[in-house]
Amino acid sequence: MAQKTLLVTGGAGFIGSAVVRQLINNHDYRVVNIDKLTYAGNLESLKEVSSNPRYHFEQVDICDKENISRIFNRYQPVGILHLAAESHVDRSIVGPGEFIQTNIVGTYNLLECAKEYYNQLADKTLFKFVHISTDEVFGSLGDTGYFSETTAYNPRSPYSSSKASSDMLVRAWYHTYNLPVVITNCTNNYGPYHFPEKLIPLIINNALAGKALPIYGKGDNVRDWLYVEDHARGIILAYEKGQLGESYCIGGHNEKTNLEVVQTICKILDELKPKVDKASYTSQITYVTDRAGHDYRYAMDPTKIQSELGWQPQENFDSGIKKTVEWYLDNHEWVEHVLSCEYQQWVQKNYDNRC
Ligand code: NAD
Ligand code: TYD
Repeated sequence: MAQKTLLVTGGAGFIGSAVVRQLINNHDYRVVNIDKLTYAGNLESLKEVSSNPRYHFEQVDICDKENISRIFNRYQPVGILHLAAESHVDRSIVGPGEFIQTNIVGTYNLLECAKEYYNQLADKTLFKFVHISTDEVFGSLGDTGYFSETTAYNPRSPYSSSKASSDMLVRAWYHTYNLPVVITNCTNNYGPYHFPEKLIPLIINNALAGKALPIYGKGDNVRDWLYVEDHARGIILAYEKGQLGESYCIGGHNEKTNLEVVQTICKILDELKPKVDKASYTSQITYVTDRAGHDYRYAMDPTKIQSELGWQPQENFDSGIKKTVEWYLDNHEWVEHVLSCEYQQWVQKNYDNRC
């Protein structure tokens, strides 16, 4: 039988690269990675699979209709896993325009190209458009309760509203045009190849560099953390077994306050890489101005994907965070390479309160 092809958008990013590595290493798909290579996309994250004959790369913007159509027609995929996005909340506060363009207009463009391609397929049974979204579309929780597939959308940041908008477009293309779609909404991810602007890799790298460890507000905001490889398995499962028109919430019940996360990282580093003066890395913790509109708490109920698709996380926070810190200690070169000039200039311009 001919090899099945999957398109993956954003495959050079943090989660997309984990999906691509799994599809090549643990499955038999031909994979076409469609990525514009913004500051957050790095082909170095795909080194271990890039010479595999089943891996293909197309440096294309998802807003580019001509090239996206060309890719659908050329590779004849059985599905698309859509991860390309602007993904950092702080950036969306400073400059929402790119978020509207990529997350909303880009998703609209992909849906239109997918619809045209799907409509002319002779065998329509296999094709699926899997849209990867976030728990942030549901808004902010108080001290109790969980998000689930039935929670009403209530996004509050430019990032989460752009993701919520794209989720709505995906649903509309299912109901209106019968495009076969599945949506996943996942909690905060962490793990290897995470761009060091996000909390966990930022703290590890700043700690090692002797810099301040910035905690927004009091550090009591809560996030529900999932190891990236567990999310990638959930996405592939959603493609292979997800019911059309359904959404699946993904999370591993690992709620932590930001202060707990930072203290845990410091403790692991104190053991694995003690400072010369033997002081704890916690001495670098610095409380800084809170994020505008900072959502208080996210937490997910993943019962549906567990019971209907048989998904289970393999890591808990203790095992995953240890692996993550070890990875960053062993891969300092990757960090140096991805911290481009463009990124450094952006930080200098926008994060005066950091150092
Ligand atoms: P990321 O920022 O690490 O990677 C995004 C990738 O998309 C990069 O490779 C970038 O080059 C590419 N990209 C951006 N704009 C593009 C465009 N216009 N055309 C083509 N490629 C473009 O993001 P991530 O953390 O890997 O997130 C991937 C997806 O998962 C996003 O849709 C995000 O909303 C969602 N998500 C992320 C998390 C999380 O904790 N990181 C949690 C739940 C859902
Ligand atoms: P982040 O990694 O940006 O993910 P998200 O905003 O999508 O949840 O932030 C995670 C949490 O950490 C969030 O509550 C904001 C907080 N945070 C800090 O306290 N300091 C930082 O330097 C960053 C980047 C985030």
